[in-house]
Amino acid sequence: MTTTIRLRRNGPYVIDTDDVRVVDWNGAEYQTARKPVALCRCGASARKPFCDGSHARVGFRAEEAGGAADEGECPAGHEPGADG
Ligand code: FES
Repeated sequence: MTTTIRLRRNGPYVIDTDDVRVVDWNGAEYQTARKPVALCRCGASARKPFCDGSHARVGFRAEEAGGAADEGECPAGHEPGADG
């Protein structure tokens, strides 16, 4: 099954599946009552890693759109699955 992660314009990442677990760097799972899950990408949420709507209050802008090729590399050099 393919999981779709939608980037909301000027908003969170929304994970469109009922079968998702969000875990911290220790593997501890967050309790997620709401589906779909919306993850903060603006940094302003008081409920990180989840979106609490603060992106609108702080005027977060992220209007990048899909379609461009990307290697998916983290600019900070983090490896997928690595701590931090
Ligand atoms: S993206 Fe919504 S609070 Fe950060």
